[in-house]
Amino acid sequence: CGIVGYIGEKDVTDILISGLKRLEYRGYDSAGVAVYDGENINVVKTKGRLSVLEEKVMDTPLKGKVGIGHTRWATHGEPSDINAHPHLNKDGSLAVVHNGIIENYLELKNWLKGLGYEFISDTDTEVISHLLDYYYEGDVLQAVLKLVSRIEGSYALGVLSKNEPDKIVAVRKDSPLIVGLGEGENLIASDIPALLPYTRNVVIMADRDIAVLTKDRVTFYDYYGREIEKPVTHIDWDISAAEKGGYRHFMLKEINEQPRAIRDTLRGRITEDGFHLDDISLDEGYIKGLKSIQIVACGTAYHAGLVAKEFYERYIKIPTVTDIASEFRYRDPLVDKNVLTIVISQSGETADTIAAIREAKSKGSKVFAITNVLGSTVARESDYVLYTWAGPEIAVASTKAYITQLAALYMLGGYIGLKRGTLDMKFVRELQAELTAIPDKVQKILDEQDRIQRIADEHYNVKDVFYLGRGLDYAVSMEGSLKLKEVSYIHSEAYPAGELKHGTLALVEDGTLIIAVATQKALYEKTLSNIEETKTRGGYIITVTKGDNEIFNDASDEMIMLPTASDYIMPIITVVPLQLLAYYMAVARGCDVDKPRNLAKSVTVE
Ligand code: G6P
Repeated sequence: CGIVGYIGEKDVTDILISGLKRLEYRGYDSAGVAVYDGENINVVKTKGRLSVLEEKVMDTPLKGKVGIGHTRWATHGEPSDINAHPHLNKDGSLAVVHNGIIENYLELKNWLKGLGYEFISDTDTEVISHLLDYYYEGDVLQAVLKLVSRIEGSYALGVLSKNEPDKIVAVRKDSPLIVGLGEGENLIASDIPALLPYTRNVVIMADRDIAVLTKDRVTFYDYYGREIEKPVTHIDWDISAAEKGGYRHFMLKEINEQPRAIRDTLRGRITEDGFHLDDISLDEGYIKGLKSIQIVACGTAYHAGLVAKEFYERYIKIPTVTDIASEFRYRDPLVDKNVLTIVISQSGETADTIAAIREAKSKGSKVFAITNVLGSTVARESDYVLYTWAGPEIAVASTKAYITQLAALYMLGGYIGLKRGTLDMKFVRELQAELTAIPDKVQKILDEQDRIQRIADEHYNVKDVFYLGRGLDYAVSMEGSLKLKEVSYIHSEAYPAGELKHGTLALVEDGTLIIAVATQKALYEKTLSNIEETKTRGGYIITVTKGDNEIFNDASDEMIMLPTASDYIMPIITVVPLQLLAYYMAVARGCDVDKPRNLAKSVTVE
């Protein structure tokens, strides 16, 4: 979910809605605003996209200079008008927006019911509005202080009180919240882009910080109500970095930004003697003593971790396990101080990934984070942070973040291999050269994307797509398949090419689309046999391979030739046509590419 709040002299409704638009990637199944009009708090909220809210607001104009807003991604209670935020207390004098999950809400709900409070929604958030009502004695800050001592779980909250309309009170724990410091106006938002039209001076709130915003001043407190000082961060990146820049969709823009994103991520980190990972310094004795590496992530970031596993075991010679964060945290994982845990997260706010960090740390493991968001929870909670400089990623389907995660993981692998003594300088030089050459190779594929579009236009009507590959090709196929299903809603699966015959081959029939990924020289012949197996059953074969062979020509119906590079680096190139194919298939099918149904960009719930 995303929250915003504004207090100042301007017409607040427009500001709230434009702020919510910039946060829509955080969830978009319902939205709402609460505005104080000089007398009362008025709420307009609705199920559906922000555009629906905009229409409703046109019918019922909301005038005021202070207000809070919310865009929701449902957890407790289906998307509906009633479950949408803001939520009010019983007499409508207190309004609250909430991002996160209140874990003890059932217990609180029963307790409040016992006191006579009536619940109208199915949300966990409603316990907050009633608890505030219970604790309110004329000072909303005091009520919030009491509230936070009762609730457990994760939250970023914005609270508006009719009796103290000169302020907004905000608090966070395990959900992001940023304060924007303006001139005669102040704001809160879940993420920086929503604040940039008004100010570049922000305070990144830490867990258990409370902020009281008035139009001229923001005061911060801790959980005991003691005033605290917070550093102000000046944001120097441009809002245009977060806008579409002439492309039809953010996803296409972000795919096309990949050469730049990789360059930025490599910048300053490739040096004479290896890899310089910002100010991170892992002790040689520690690295030599490592038993293994544990990678943890979700979604696309998990797929980046699968590529790293192949590379780390084969070349760095270190046992590596890659886990899905929501699995890792509940399986009593075998990590300890001799295991380095690497977490990967674009947003740095994925709840399962954050929980995995805590789990790994509690077992004595050091946590190395690879993330795209400065000051995110993942960045703050980890022992070491390496940022991917992909820039803000808005499309729900991750593209440029993935490619920069791979670049970061390769550099980290090189760094570890050198310190461990398992990589020699000759290999490291080659790895550096391979990485440096990637942006131009990716650009070459982008320059020829018309071809991929043509292929998509011919095949967008298919029912199923199977991706086949071995080793690193399998790892990248997983990502290709995920991209396709999330944006085009076509059923697809990725399979290790040799495994198909153990079951899935039964699904191949006349015209079934097979994307065979074959970039690993030593496995060409093996993969060719699997291609033949599917072809015999009627499969339509599109082979993605390097331009250094003609082995697959006869068996394939269509070829996508990639620029050549060393086998181990290929995933970072191979993924690009797979992203484009998914994108153009989705466009051909008329899908809402940037905001696929049922999905959210940043999943801050378990
Ligand atoms: C969501 C997004 C995915 C993303 C995953 C992990 O499901 O839709 O695109 O890969 O979360 O997100 P993270 O921010 O931790 O990389």
